[in-house]
Amino acid sequence: MSIITDDGNRTKRIDINQKNPNTKAEKIDYDRNFENSIRPKSFDTYIGQSALKETLKITIAAAKKREKPLDHLLFYGPPGLGKTTLAGVIAEQMGVEIKITSAPALERPRDIIGILMSLKGGEILFIDEIHRLNKVAEEILYPAMEDFFLDMTTGKSQTVKTLRVPLPKFTLIGATTKAGELSGPLRDRFGIIHRLEFYTDEELSQVIKRTAGILEIEITDDGALAIARRSRGTPRIANRLIKRVSDYALVKSDGKIDKKIANKALDTLKIDAFGLDSTDRSLLKLIIEKYDGGPVGIETLAAALGEDVRTLEDVCEPFLLQAGLLQRTPRGRKVTPATYRHLGYKNAVDQQSLF
Ligand code: ADE
Repeated sequence: MSIITDDGNRTKRIDINQKNPNTKAEKIDYDRNFENSIRPKSFDTYIGQSALKETLKITIAAAKKREKPLDHLLFYGPPGLGKTTLAGVIAEQMGVEIKITSAPALERPRDIIGILMSLKGGEILFIDEIHRLNKVAEEILYPAMEDFFLDMTTGKSQTVKTLRVPLPKFTLIGATTKAGELSGPLRDRFGIIHRLEFYTDEELSQVIKRTAGILEIEITDDGALAIARRSRGTPRIANRLIKRVSDYALVKSDGKIDKKIANKALDTLKIDAFGLDSTDRSLLKLIIEKYDGGPVGIETLAAALGEDVRTLEDVCEPFLLQAGLLQRTPRGRKVTPATYRHLGYKNAVDQQSLF
């Protein structure tokens, strides 16, 4: 089967009939290919983030009128909300190439130097997880961002010379889930800083219907809304769930997704009414049952669950915090009365879950 994207004359056909992934690396590649294949490439097909889109449209129009590259941009917010996708839309609207990398891939000075030197005038460099950039790479970036120069040193000790190598004027788009961890000097070099917000159920329904259209999956409005409600405000999760629900619908019925099939499939996947999965629930239950509702340190929780601190902080927590099911305090994480209610505990004293 091939996928036809809905971006007019930039329509691309992507073969999704590739073999199912076996290894973890294959799975990451497969997910990335799938994400790339359904990414919107224009502001019209990019759903949600409307205030941000309006601001960006003006910024882009002004840069085009001035015939100058865009100012450097920083996007921050929880993972899966479309930061990379938005960077791609901006490149498409500016009519320039985008080079995509992430901070952990820029470990050695030559990694960042190589990529900067490969850029052409006006091009966009996208660095994901930019808060993880090391000090050396950051210091190479400062003059590159500010004056479009690379400061290179040659020779050793007494004979050391600094060479200023000019770079073409480029735009850096940085993305981070942790704006607070960005160093001040790096943050100050971005002309435009924006936060991406969680999506509403209505917006996620539109994302789901768009993806279903691309994948040729039949879905009703209430089927899309049922998936949207359990997608934690996050398009990446919605797009993942639609594939799983579609599998279920194909095996258990005629492949068409309506509200009943969607809810049954999501129940089978153990995604609850709030969109919490088993890791989220284990985290919350652990705080309630072993730590009396908290506060308890994130490292302790990660060790007890056998999870990575970063996974808990970056993937689980943003939505739990926003949903009011978790609080971050100086002494650690705490649950709230809403957590007890949501997980079916009669009250905060009785810690025996009804489920
Ligand atoms: N897929 C992922 N993010 C999206 C968005 N904002 N709009 C449409 N499709 C998407």
